[in-house]
Formats: sequence, structure tokens, C-alpha cells
Amino acid sequence: MNQTALITGASKRIGRSIAGHLAAKGWNVAIHYNVSSADAEQLVVRLRHNYPNQLFKAFRANLTIVKEVEGLISSVAAFFHEINLLVNNASVFDKGHLKETPVELFDHQFNVNLKAPFLLMRDFANLVKKGNIINLVDTRITNNRSDFAAYSLSKKALWELTKMAALELSPEIRVNAIAPGVTLPPDGKDEDYLSKLAEDIPMKRPGGIAPVLKCLDFILKNDYLTGQLLFADGGENLGQNV
Ligand SMILES: NC(=O)c1ccc[n+]([C@@H]2O[C@H](COP(=O)([O-])OP(=O)(O)OC[C@H]3O[C@@H](n4cnc5c(N)ncnc54)[C@H](OP(=O)(O)O)[C@@H]3O)[C@@H](O)[C@H]2O)c1
Repeated sequence: MNQTALITGASKRIGRSIAGHLAAKGWNVAIHYNVSSADAEQLVVRLRHNYPNQLFKAFRANLTIVKEVEGLISSVAAFFHEINLLVNNASVFDKGHLKETPVELFDHQFNVNLKAPFLLMRDFANLVKKGNIINLVDTRITNNRSDFAAYSLSKKALWELTKMAALELSPEIRVNAIAPGVTLPPDGKDEDYLSKLAEDIPMKRPGGIAPVLKCLDFILKNDYLTGQLLFADGGENLGQNV
């Protein structure tokens, strides 16, 4: 029987690529989205067409609304009968130094990037009971820059949660994290912007999504790995040589 993955924020960008990647390897995929319903439905149609023997379905949930978060794992499990992998990919990325961060921005970052993954991991552990969880963090967790203060802190906490959950949920559930670096330009920015950002990292170029997918494959294949963080960041976590 095909395995099933639930990927949050899977209608676009990295989440969409993870969905396509797993589908190509024979997985059924639950495509979670919030506002991007057209993109999510288009992805479902494309995947059903390309892989007619597998199951694909879109599930909407606003990850800032606890009731919607708490319904997600059970809805996906009811449709697919089991879930083997949860990828906490959905995220918000709002700029703001500590001194410029209103409480609404702080809460939004923490609700989507930490609280929702926490609740989904809890429900996965209680309802699904075995499998894999992979959390998307960010290479920024290795520094103390405050230009995205609440975002960075939410991702630092998600990494701590990854280790805590790995310890509590082993051996039935493995919990690992991937930290992308210069991967895709944010909305409104182009590849030139990304290449400029990459000038100062050891590998001197943006990575694109492929390194993230390779980390995902490695985590899934290596069944002795739990509580680990793989950097898909071209060495950015090392800092800068002077
Ligand atoms: N892109 C990069 O270069 C980069 C670098 C470092 C780390 N990362 C990490 O990698 C992951 C994927 O990055 P990305 O750039 O592809 O992500 P993204 O495009 O910023 O966001 C992915 C999805 O998150 C969903 N989302 C946002 N708010 C939500 C809410 N309230 N409820 C439910 N879903 C919500 C959105 O779904 P809808 O559109 O359906 O609302 C969105 O499509 C993230 O965790 C990010 O932090 C990315």
C-alpha cells in the first residue's frame, strides 16, 4: 500500500515541490493550504493525472485558528486511513526588529510557525502513533540577527521542539528538521536578489529547492536518525570568514 504524507502549506513554492517529489516516489499526498485554494486544487488535478494509482486531496485549515488546526490530522487520517509522514512546512515570514514588533505580528509568527506545528505533532502522536515528522526551520536559527526577530525566534523554538518531540515520541515516531538557506526569493523579489544574498555564503550561489528535497530523502531513508537538523544552506550556518 502507498504511504501517505501530509504537507502543510503545500499549494506553492517549497511545499508544492515536496508534494511533487513525494508523489513521484509513490506517496499519496494530503495537500494542506489556507488561502491558495486554486493552486492547491490545480496541484491535486496535476498529481492525480500524473499518478492515477495514488491518492491526492487538498485540505484547508487556517493555522492561526486552533479549532481548524485540531481538525486537520483527523480529517486527513479519515480520508487516507493512515498518515506516515507529517511535514510542517507552512510558515509566515514577517520582517521586524525587536523594537518594531507589534504583538499582533509576534503572535502571528508564533501561531503559524510554532503553535500549529506543536499541535499537529501532538495530534500525530496521539492519533497516528507511528511514522515520521519533518519540520522546516531556517538557517537563521544559528545567528542572533533581529531583522526578523519574531520569525527567527519562532524557528529557533521549532528546532527545540523537534528535539523534545524526538525524545518523547521515539522509537515509534522519528522527528527531524531541515534548515533551508538561500532557497527561493520572497514575494516581490527576483533571482538577482537571491544571487546577491548568496554572495556572502560559502557556496556562493542560491541552492534552490533540490538540496531541501535531498535532505528529506536522507531523513526518510536513514531510519536511525531522530532529533537531527540537516542544513540545506550552502554552509551559511558557518557564518562568514573575514
Ligand atoms: N523560501 C526560502 O528561501 C526559505 C528559507 C529558509 C527557510 N524556509 C522555510 O521553508 C518553508 C517553506 O518556505 P516557503 O518560502 O516555500 O514558504 P511560504 O511560501 O512563505 O509559505 C508556505 C505556505 O504557508 C502557508 N501559510 C501561511 N500562513 C498560513 C496560515 N495562517 N494557515 C495555513 N497556512 C498558512 C501558505 O499557504 P496559503 O498560500 O494556502 O495560505 C503558504 O503557501 C518555511 O517553513 C520557511 O520558513 C524557506
